[in-house]
Amino acid sequence: MLDINNVRAGYGAINVLWDVSLNVASGEVTTIVGPNGAGKTTLLRAIMGLVPLERGQIVFGGAPSGGAPSGGAPSGGASLAGVPTWDMARRGIAMVPEGRMIFRDMSIEENLLLGAFAKTRRAGAARQLEEVYALFPLLKERRALPAGTLSGGQAQMLALGRGLMSAPQLMLIDEPSLGLAPVMVQEVFAILERLKAAGRTIVLVEQNTHMALRLADQVYLMQGGKVTFAARAKEVDVEALHDMYFAR
Ligand SMILES: Nc1ncnc2c1ncn2[C@@H]1O[C@H](COP(=O)(O)OP(=O)(O)OP(=O)(O)O)[C@@H](O)[C@H]1O
Ligand SMILES: [Mg+2]
Repeated sequence: MLDINNVRAGYGAINVLWDVSLNVASGEVTTIVGPNGAGKTTLLRAIMGLVPLERGQIVFGGAPSGGAPSGGAPSGGASLAGVPTWDMARRGIAMVPEGRMIFRDMSIEENLLLGAFAKTRRAGAARQLEEVYALFPLLKERRALPAGTLSGGQAQMLALGRGLMSAPQLMLIDEPSLGLAPVMVQEVFAILERLKAAGRTIVLVEQNTHMALRLADQVYLMQGGKVTFAARAKEVDVEALHDMYFAR
């Protein structure tokens, strides 16, 4: 569903990603692990068009997750080069950013509605809201309260809910467990498990390799702006992964 080929990108004169290639299959959880500064967030930003590509390409498309291709159209996919970030939601990609980025003074429901792009806002926002509220009953209970009243774990649920509001084909989720108490980490992963069971396609950046490996179908290790290891998750031994992780 997403093909990243030899992507080189960074911030102005500072290059961060060095010929990164990876592949995200429809209906799977692809996890990207790696130490601080490896370029994981930069890669997600490059997919979203927030960081321009120096070289390489990113191709997105094919059959929607969980559904058969319609009308005989080939699952060719389209390059995301030059696609503005604001158009990603309409194209089916949503990012749940590192640090959650919720608006504390706006209500929980207003935060959720920000995730619905214009067309959905008119046509399907109410239905999307109900779906999100079914997944997160607490957000429904508190929908009129300022988002700033939520705990860290609840704020992460809100960030995930906002990502779901555009009914994305592909979700990019950056370190959802960061800074959370163990019980909330479990809860976040339980939600991710449910999204996976529902057939969603997810790219998950995580430092919690134990939890990420249990959830994932495919694993990539990034170090120093490069992909240094790739494997099917069920074939990966977490201790061996940690050895690679901490070796240079
Ligand atoms: N806006 C920016 N301008 C310049 N350099 C940046 C910027 N954002 C990140 N970097 C640099 O890019 C490199 C990769 O950062 P990135 O945030 O992608 O890493 P990461 O793998 O997500 O790390 P973490 O696990 O800490 O979130 C780092 O060296 C970082 O200092
Ligand atoms: Mg990061």
